[in-house]
Amino acid sequence: MNSEQLKKLAAEKAVEEIKSGMILGLGTGSTVHFALDEISNKIKNGELKEIVCVATSIHTEEKAKRLGIPLTTLNKLYGSYDPPKAERSTIRRRRTKIHHPKLIDLTIDGADEVDNDLNLIKGGGGALLREKVVAQASKKVLIIVDESKLSNKLGEKFFVPVEVLQYSVNAEKKFLESFGAKVTIRKNESAESFITDENNFILDANFGMINNVEELNKILNDRAGIAAHGLFVNLCDEVFCADAEGVKVLKK
Ligand code: A5P
Repeated sequence: MNSEQLKKLAAEKAVEEIKSGMILGLGTGSTVHFALDEISNKIKNGELKEIVCVATSIHTEEKAKRLGIPLTTLNKLYGSYDPPKAERSTIRRRRTKIHHPKLIDLTIDGADEVDNDLNLIKGGGGALLREKVVAQASKKVLIIVDESKLSNKLGEKFFVPVEVLQYSVNAEKKFLESFGAKVTIRKNESAESFITDENNFILDANFGMINNVEELNKILNDRAGIAAHGLFVNLCDEVFCADAEGVKVLKK
């Protein structure tokens, strides 16, 4: 089986996890496109009813619309959500108990690299910021990949996409280089700077093999000019990985 067939296999298996009535997050990328086709088929043949989806990119949104997949937005979901009293943040003595509502039942997304702890590199398609926002709003994140995406340590196979403000792109480039990364500003097909759905630039930062993913995650999280980065740490619940023998389910 070639890599496209493996992606399709993983995607179709993931769609079996969707139940009628669910609120879904739709990721971005070529693997997710197979999932969109399958979701659309299941809506048309009546197997899936009353689902509503949040897209992680304009690209996915456009494809979902063409396929007749019902869409909503995160703002509509959260705008009409009134948390039950018991779930509201309460201050108990000096401790604050925070309930962060996750309103999306299941998100299906792809990845560029997956390590043994199910940490990910994402953003090859440039949708990392919205993808991370949707992952953080999801009760379950299911990642679909073919076996070529698995590695022992992140950075073995893929650079880390870093979405930065246009305002400070050169400062962020130098910041990333100060940690030893080789950094390039991503370009589109017309050799102009790639612009994300949120109007930012992307720096592709090659750190080589990343020995301490959590530390790098924190460093990048703390930087004001970085809108999002492609390290998805503790954001994935399950990986459906397709190889010649079928689809393996990887859990933490
Ligand atoms: C989009 O920004 C990415 O995070 C994709 O999910 C990732 O690049 C995987 O894409 P493919 O399924 O096309 O390999």
